[in-house]
Amino acid sequence: MGQTQAALNLMPQPAQFTVGEGRLLIDGGFQVALTGVKEPTVEAAVKRMIARLSNSTGIPLTQALATEPAKATMVVQCGRLGGVVQKLNDDESYSLEITTQQAHLSAATTLGILRGLETFLQLVDLDAHGFGVPAVRIEDRPRFPWRGLLLDVSRHWMPIEVVKRNLDGMAAVKLNVFHWHLSDDQGFRVESKVFPKLQQIGSDGNYYTQAQVKEVIAYAHERGIRVVPEFDVPAHTSSWLAAYPALGSGPGPYEIGRHWGVYEPTMDPTREYTYRFLDRFIGEMAALFPDEYFHVGGDELNSAEWRGNRRIQAFMRHRRMKTAADLQTYFNQRLVRIVERHGKKMVGWDEVLRPGLPKDVVVQSWRGPQSLAAAAQQGYRGILSAGYYLDLMQPASQHYQVDPLGGAAAALSEQDQSRILGGEACMWAELVTPMNVDSRIWPRLAAIAEKLWSPKTVTDIDSMYQRLAVVSRQLEFIGLAHRSSGWLMLKRLTGPHPADSLARFDEVLEPVKGYAREKARQYTSLTPMNRLVDATLPESDAARQFAVLAADWKTNANEIERRLAEWRDSAINLLPMTKENALLEEQASIAENVRGISQAGIEALTYLRSDKAAPADWVKRQLDLLDTAAQPNAELLIVIVPSIRLLVQTAQAAQP
Ligand code: ACM
Repeated sequence: MGQTQAALNLMPQPAQFTVGEGRLLIDGGFQVALTGVKEPTVEAAVKRMIARLSNSTGIPLTQALATEPAKATMVVQCGRLGGVVQKLNDDESYSLEITTQQAHLSAATTLGILRGLETFLQLVDLDAHGFGVPAVRIEDRPRFPWRGLLLDVSRHWMPIEVVKRNLDGMAAVKLNVFHWHLSDDQGFRVESKVFPKLQQIGSDGNYYTQAQVKEVIAYAHERGIRVVPEFDVPAHTSSWLAAYPALGSGPGPYEIGRHWGVYEPTMDPTREYTYRFLDRFIGEMAALFPDEYFHVGGDELNSAEWRGNRRIQAFMRHRRMKTAADLQTYFNQRLVRIVERHGKKMVGWDEVLRPGLPKDVVVQSWRGPQSLAAAAQQGYRGILSAGYYLDLMQPASQHYQVDPLGGAAAALSEQDQSRILGGEACMWAELVTPMNVDSRIWPRLAAIAEKLWSPKTVTDIDSMYQRLAVVSRQLEFIGLAHRSSGWLMLKRLTGPHPADSLARFDEVLEPVKGYAREKARQYTSLTPMNRLVDATLPESDAARQFAVLAADWKTNANEIERRLAEWRDSAINLLPMTKENALLEEQASIAENVRGISQAGIEALTYLRSDKAAPADWVKRQLDLLDTAAQPNAELLIVIVPSIRLLVQTAQAAQP
């Protein structure tokens, strides 16, 4: 499909664009000339763009940096140097004009150039004449200044390569904040030179050295991404307390958490030792992480240790504190002063929003959008994450309908709304490993990125899915493993047998949603993540497309039948394997169900084509089967059930 005025193959869609006539061809003579300020960052970004263009097209582009703008295919003109440290409200706008003769990218800052180069790369497609980009005029700028991804590297360790390839993906969709969740009950992931036991005892050996942290920060900076570290206190701190038990509110001893959920170990907010420790620790980390903002967590406090500690109870009585939340507010008030003394602005999860919280704290809403509106109304700046939790396995369309200025925030005054800085998607890592994490982030994150960049009016879900498919393929060329690793995991499941049939079967499945997996069994950080549910993609494109077909069976009967037969046969192929393969054993009843409901769909078509209503007893049997198949099984859902139910019900209603 050509790129049209309605939509370019861009995600996020630009603020303004006009599609022209014709294309600018990209061939081996592609050259880029730099004008304006000569900044190493811009030249490096252009070189990376050329390398990526070469990689995605297969065209060698070894001599692509030109000196003569008049002869270049593309001219890049940067107005001024970017700062050493990227700031929240830095100008990211750019203009990109492409004619059949030349592309011209200009921006006031290096950041704008970075964003525009990504736009150019996304526009590249293949047509009858070869690779090229459409003639177009784009004026672009973000809707929100804070557009982030949180990556939890504590629950499952994420090596530096995972971080880097995801930073590449973030840059491709114009995200600009990497929120690095670096400590939690299950692991403390940064080298501290001041308190080395944090990583020595708290990390199982899996932590980033300070040199690696600097490498990641530099890598992110080159791509126009700020790195905001999170050290979650006072709860979520088992790994710290294992190393420094004197920080704890309980008797100890403490150990690294191995299971998921909310833990009791909590820092003692009543002792000066805690603040002296945090002052030195935050001082060290504030120097390591150059960003203005510093996240201190503050979520999910379990007050059991505080309630069980007589000294803490006496402290609370003495200060007329009634609840654990009051004590946490006291802790936060002291923490803000420490964070600010080290030159940073504090960010915390929405639990920190309590009377007495200093106004310069940024509130990150995760429990619901109400806290975002409440924070903004009370004069706090806020970031939305509720609705953007990638670990909950919701479809892109659901995230896409969450707007930071929607819900209660829509009713706020313009001034209050201006305090809503944007949002962050969250990739909590209880159930992901380096192998499948990309497939839980991508491509859905691109839809959230669009929500945070594009104008509020960009809301069309069909258009989003069309463009998401394009961007998803492009992300594979960047090095993300969201598709390839799933394939490898399927191959692991089938051993010596071909994985094609399992892949076909897996198309109709999705992992259970929300926190249902944690409820289904007792997971720990040592549980193997090698089952089908770990490979299955969060969102089935095949099921979504099938729903469209099934809604119009008359037009699509042959295609519906072909797909159902493929799914039925893939289930039949799988059944013998479930008897001889320990990892696939749990698929036996799912395979039976997929076989049965696919057959039901095929039979429904037979009735529909015959124009005779399906017999009541047949209908009843199929609906019972569909009810069974709709139940979660091995933490998986068969997501073509509603479409087949529709076919059966339509067959039931058919008029003779
Ligand atoms: C959170 O999900 N506990 C911030």
